[in-house]
Amino acid sequence: MTMSLPLIFLQLLLATVVAASQALPGCENRCGDINVPYPFGTRPGCFKDDNFLVTCNSSSNPPKLYLTTSLIEVTNIFLSGELRIQSWIAHDCYNKQHLRVVSNIPWMRFSKFPISHTRNKFIAVGCDSYAVIKGSQGRKYTTGCLSLCDSIDNVINGSCSGIGCCQSIIPKEVRSYNISVNSYDNHRSVWDFNPCSYSFVAEDNTYTFSSLDLADLQGRTSFPVVLDWAVGNETCVAARKNQTSFACKENSKCYNFDNGPGYRCNCSEGYEGNPYLSNGCQDIDECKISSPCNMTCHNLPGTYVCSCPEGYQGDGKKSGSGCSRIPSKSLPLINIALGISISISMLLLGGFWLYWGLRQRKISKLRKKFFEQNGGFMLQQKLPKRDESVQSSKRSGSAKSFEIYTEECLKKATNNYHESRILGQGGQATVYKGILPDDTPVAIKKPKMGDNSQVEQFVNEIAILSQIKHTNVVKLLGCCLETQVPLLVYEFVTNGTLYEHIHTKSRDASSITWENRLRIATETAGVLSLLHSDANRPIIHRDIKSNNILLDENFTAKVSDFGSSRLFPTDQKQVATFFQGTLGYLDPEYLYTNQLTEKSDVYSFGVLLVELLTGKEALSYDRPPKEISLALYFVSSLKEGRLLEIVDEQVLKEVKAETLKEFAIVAKGCLEIKGEERPTMMDVAMELQGLRMVEKHPWVTESNDAEEAQSLLGELSNASGGDGSSSISASYTS
Ligand SMILES: *[C@@H]1O[C@H](CO)[C@@H](O)[C@H](O)[C@H]1NC(C)=O
Ligand SMILES: *[C@@H]1O[C@H](CO)[C@@H](O)[C@H](O)[C@H]1NC(C)=O
Ligand SMILES: *[C@@H]1O[C@H](CO)[C@@H](O)[C@H](O)[C@H]1NC(C)=O
Ligand SMILES: *[C@@H]1O[C@H](CO)[C@@H](O)[C@H](O)[C@H]1NC(C)=O
Ligand SMILES: *[C@@H]1O[C@H](CO)[C@@H](O)[C@H](O)[C@H]1NC(C)=O
Ligand SMILES: *[C@@H]1O[C@H](CO)[C@@H](O)[C@H](O)[C@H]1NC(C)=O
Ligand SMILES: *[C@@H]1O[C@H](CO)[C@@H](O)[C@H](O)[C@H]1NC(C)=O
Repeated sequence: MTMSLPLIFLQLLLATVVAASQALPGCENRCGDINVPYPFGTRPGCFKDDNFLVTCNSSSNPPKLYLTTSLIEVTNIFLSGELRIQSWIAHDCYNKQHLRVVSNIPWMRFSKFPISHTRNKFIAVGCDSYAVIKGSQGRKYTTGCLSLCDSIDNVINGSCSGIGCCQSIIPKEVRSYNISVNSYDNHRSVWDFNPCSYSFVAEDNTYTFSSLDLADLQGRTSFPVVLDWAVGNETCVAARKNQTSFACKENSKCYNFDNGPGYRCNCSEGYEGNPYLSNGCQDIDECKISSPCNMTCHNLPGTYVCSCPEGYQGDGKKSGSGCSRIPSKSLPLINIALGISISISMLLLGGFWLYWGLRQRKISKLRKKFFEQNGGFMLQQKLPKRDESVQSSKRSGSAKSFEIYTEECLKKATNNYHESRILGQGGQATVYKGILPDDTPVAIKKPKMGDNSQVEQFVNEIAILSQIKHTNVVKLLGCCLETQVPLLVYEFVTNGTLYEHIHTKSRDASSITWENRLRIATETAGVLSLLHSDANRPIIHRDIKSNNILLDENFTAKVSDFGSSRLFPTDQKQVATFFQGTLGYLDPEYLYTNQLTEKSDVYSFGVLLVELLTGKEALSYDRPPKEISLALYFVSSLKEGRLLEIVDEQVLKEVKAETLKEFAIVAKGCLEIKGEERPTMMDVAMELQGLRMVEKHPWVTESNDAEEAQSLLGELSNASGGDGSSSISASYTS
């Protein structure tokens, strides 16, 4: 019972996460009445690559959308991988004297997008006409059709079979066409009723031939044409190998494109939305939309379950056996033949038991799927196990696993959220110190008000923290689900934040020695490289800053705030941006790409290193304009050879200039403007570890003693998770 609570709760939370716009955040998702879903976009940063640029001319009325910067007008974009454009018509017209007066040979090129070979036809209209379509990009081909007739009475309305109208199909992989139409005899014998020939490509079923078209095509100037679109130029299998560039996001499936290279994405069954956006595929609430159950319906991510209340039986589905009352008297059987009835009831019992077993299994499978989807790995492993054990032996299990606290308990622990218990306060949450009944001190994060973003952050934080158990990551002890937005309960870290230690004068400034600074940096780097270590699903912290590094009594670093900056107390001086991250630490590339990557963490960490080195705040408007951003100030000082001028006085006293320089070089690497030029967090952790070793054993650079080196390597690889000793020896020799 206790444990099904978070399940249901998370489920509710997820249901409330609103369906997002179909475009990237901050991008227009409409042009007039036309939807512009990602990967399409109208300006840089909004489309996936140049092929998906569409241009909106909002000065025409209604606004018009064009493919790239061409004159090809787009009228619909469908996430199923199709888009509709307006195509032009080729004419060939003659006057009474049988001289050509108008002739045009329109052509269209669609760069990467082929014409749908299943949904369009090439059509010609006329009684003395032959039309040709040529493709040059993609498949090279030429084809056409011939249409003749003597009299208007011979043509057949609705039939396009060579009398007044002819058509041909379009092959696969055609990405451009030139169409032309011509006559054999300058319409000499048919001019009275048919002075022109026409040809065009049109979407199936948008054109039905009529004898009236022979006069002037009834004034039409364009026809709709359907193009296919896909992303990438490789198959699903190949594309999936690089998760960074793979276009199909959560809860979606990938399909190979059947009209050229590339692939398409589709939301998985039970989800709807934009599969190309992260979190674009949203759960469908089947219970609300189609009410498929006879009595009780539970919506779950990607699916739903029906159930029957007590006293009823059946699968609960309207389309199935529904729910029916369990008959109270099934005994008459016994009167007929006792022997038979016993075996029958045994059978029934067995069947019922089997049914329940399967059903339970199905439900627990769904739960699992659900947790996995939320990244609640650890929860998934832990909770179901406890689910069973808790009922039988209350809390007999391991010392401190994930707890569900009651609100009453936390109220007591914080003295009813008394002001004196406030540890920190941010824009959206307050952190209180609490004392649990067993005298354990804890930190309790209490959101100020509930909204969807907080719900997401809550899920995030649980999902991530429950995956990571590490001495340098703040421990999540449990949560309280009885409030509108849940409260999170953390271990209490005694010594405040790194920010306070570096920047607040009231703290004993000399307590944070260079050795401690270097260790804190190394420990933080270690945690980040661990977070990034899963190449397929790296965890990006997104908000590394000195405020989010907590310190215990031994100055051991504890990285915190995995929800997002907004939930943890931020110092008022540091502006929490409305998007992810904090100004002063924010990856400059983010401004162009709107995307935070592992390398964004590297950048933020670089700022943290500079903060440790200089004792200056990441962003301060008290400094002269050129020095407001610490990162820029640092990089320019380094370039001008003025590093030692900006180093913290106390650090300068403690450390050799050479070491500072090496440290500065690591920091500079992290602060490269281009993400790809920054080192990985693993590299950084290694280099810092190397620096620590040199600090501790200054002789190591001179010594070639194999045994000593060996033991050092051991020490290193223990500290860094056992991997990458080769890169350590590299940093030694360098
Ligand atoms: C936008 O449409 C208006 C009105 O149709 C036209 O005058 C203008 O040239 C168009 N602008 C662009 C950039 O195509
Ligand atoms: C199609 O027309 C364009 C523009 O006139 C021309 O450059 C191209 O060569 C033509 N392609 C074919 C296959 O005729
Ligand atoms: C075709 O249909 C139009 C009206 O839709 C009619 O005026 C015309 O006479 C018809 N032509 C023939 C050949 O049936
Ligand atoms: C696929 O696209 C990538 C980048 O868009 C390009 O570098 C590569 O050459 C393309 N491969 C093929 C086979 O077209
Ligand atoms: C994966 O894709 C990203 C973005 O397109 C690219 O920068 C990176 O080099 C690719 N990685 C590999 C291993 O191909
Ligand atoms: C994509 O998903 C929708 C809805 O689930 C489905 O109707 C459609 O057939 C799917 N498309 C493909 C190519 O499977
Ligand atoms: C659904 O439940 C109602 C009672 O609530 C019952 O009368 C009806 O027969 C059920 N329908 C099906 C399809 O089981």
